[in-house]
Amino acid sequence: MSAATLSLRYLLTGFLFLTSLFLAPLGAAQTIAEKNLASCSECHGENGSPKDNRIPVIWGQNAAYLQRQLLAYRSGQRDNQIMSSMAESVAKDQLLSLAQNLSNLKWPSKGNQGGNAAKEFDLQKRLLAPQSMGLCLACHTADPSSMPEGTPRLWGQNLEYLLDQMSAYAQDDRTTNEAMSAIMKTISKKDQTEIARFYASH
Ligand code: HEC
Ligand code: HEC
Repeated sequence: MSAATLSLRYLLTGFLFLTSLFLAPLGAAQTIAEKNLASCSECHGENGSPKDNRIPVIWGQNAAYLQRQLLAYRSGQRDNQIMSSMAESVAKDQLLSLAQNLSNLKWPSKGNQGGNAAKEFDLQKRLLAPQSMGLCLACHTADPSSMPEGTPRLWGQNLEYLLDQMSAYAQDDRTTNEAMSAIMKTISKKDQTEIARFYASH
């Protein structure tokens, strides 16, 4: 092998090495995003359906809402041992893009809802629902696409999780939103259960 070919080889190898250095961060960023999502799936479900009824659906949830909750877990404003340590393990800027990625995924269908909650929630069902649910529907609308910014979707959310959160607001165990705490204090336990059933079953 001639000296010229040899040095060309070194040059090429060096070039490839340098290119790989430049490309490495791109590849690494992708795996971090994938790793983050995979670690969430362990509890929140491979296909977006959590196995445990006390764990919320987060796929397809409102992006601004998810971001706000992740920051609240991170700062300790929303107190949950598991989720606080999860949120702390992810860098702040990645947390925000993770929320956006989660929001872009499809909310898991329970067979009868799949984004058609508005159609399912017809007049007859509205009459069967407790009267106090009218208030909830002003913000947690039947059609998830028409909800005010930052409002979480409740349709198709897990029943036990909804019940937990309603009483957490009412008892000031969850203090992420003053309006929700004030509202939940006025709703009887019986109505809370019925409303949660309505939202969870659609
Ligand atoms: C070990 C189980 C577990 C893992 C892993 C996990 N979560 Fe959670 N997550 C929970 C539980 C339990 C709750 C309900 C906590 C509560 O009551 O506040 C929750 C709640 C949440 C909420 C609040 C949803 C809402 O409707 O308010 C978000 C957002 C969330 N998790 C995102 C994530 C993300 C993002 C990851 C991955 C980085 C993740 N979780 C990993 C168990 C887990
Ligand atoms: C004025 C608008 C508004 C009204 C009315 C309202 N909510 Fe909310 N709700 C919100 C917002 C905004 C949040 C997110 C608050 C936060 O960051 O904690 C929320 C959060 C929730 C959550 C937590 C969801 C989750 O994924 O953790 C539940 C459960 C809930 N509301 C139930 C109800 C019920 C039941 C009613 C009626 C009795 C009701 N809300 C009325 C705006 C409203």
